[in-house]
Amino acid sequence: MVLLAGCFGCEFVVFVFLLRLFGAQCQDFGYEGAEGPSHWGEKYSQCLGKHQSPIDIETHSVIWINYPELHFEQFGALLRNVSLENNGHTVVMKILSGEKPRIHGGPLKGVYEFGQLHFHWGPNDTIGSENQIDHHSFPLEMHVVMFNTAYGLENAPKIAGGLTVLSFLTSLSPLNNHQYDKFENGLHHVEQLLSANTMQNVGSLDDLTTTQRRTYFTYEGSLTTPPCSEVVTWIEFVKTIPLSKAQVNSFRMIDTKKGRLTHNYRPIQPINDRRIFYQNSSQSNLQGSLAPAMALLAALFLLINT
Ligand SMILES: *[C@@H]1O[C@H](CO)[C@@H](O)[C@H](O)[C@H]1NC(C)=O
Ligand SMILES: *[C@@H]1O[C@H](CO)[C@@H](O)[C@H](O)[C@H]1NC(C)=O
Ligand SMILES: *[C@@H]1O[C@H](CO)[C@@H](O)[C@H](O)[C@H]1NC(C)=O
Repeated sequence: MVLLAGCFGCEFVVFVFLLRLFGAQCQDFGYEGAEGPSHWGEKYSQCLGKHQSPIDIETHSVIWINYPELHFEQFGALLRNVSLENNGHTVVMKILSGEKPRIHGGPLKGVYEFGQLHFHWGPNDTIGSENQIDHHSFPLEMHVVMFNTAYGLENAPKIAGGLTVLSFLTSLSPLNNHQYDKFENGLHHVEQLLSANTMQNVGSLDDLTTTQRRTYFTYEGSLTTPPCSEVVTWIEFVKTIPLSKAQVNSFRMIDTKKGRLTHNYRPIQPINDRRIFYQNSSQSNLQGSLAPAMALLAALFLLINT
């Protein structure tokens, strides 16, 4: 996920002006060569931490768990007025006016409010997601970044438990996903580096993601871009968002200071001593027979997304 502590609170300022600041502050990392992920730790020591993201989720070793239900508030509300900005690392959508969606329950302690959403992708459709499942990459991954309302937008990125990222993987579909029509059009207007635009009535968060959110993996990790702070509860949904090849391709048209942003995914990081949990609220009495159920999980995962 892309978020810089110093940049996160900027949304209240006139954002075009702000983008200059944002750019100046955040342009010192990239995905190639001397600016690439293997060098981030030289300037940002937290990127060398032991609980980094993204990870490869191995379904045979996840721990089945039964959390309370996740509650999604305002996810069905029409996003009447949002901004879309190309910050040179990704495209970021923020809500300019109207009620902010919130989430609580599940693995979360507290109430989290929408901060922004953005995407990660790759040069071709075989690669691009940050998190992987059983070594499988997806063409695109959406991160909905939510901050703990107990800490506030400014402080949440610096405090453990401060952020949750709702992560949605995409799968290729032969058809255009029409819920993305407006968004895709918006993308074309921010191809230029540091450009920004507003969009009206782009649909709801439900439209842009999926409403099948009862099955997910969850783990404790970090921002996937500098400063790589280890403050994020990751919720990786099993149900993917279908997008066509052409729609995924629209993201690769985004410009950086060095040409097109063909890829912006960080390589997977070691899990170390962490545990990955798996919640399937559709399950009833599978808890007694985990081993055979787990053997089926990878297959089910593919099934549910086809
Ligand atoms: C969108 O929100 C911004 C910031 O609150 C405001 O200046 C602008 O007038 C709004 N636009 C629309 C169309 O509501
Ligand atoms: C997709 O991109 C990756 C990373 O650059 C590369 O290794 C792979 O060969 C490419 N695959 C295809 C089918 O082009
Ligand atoms: C979740 O549990 C239900 C009911 O047991 C099952 O039908 C479904 O396939 C499971 N989903 C996954 C992704 O394991």
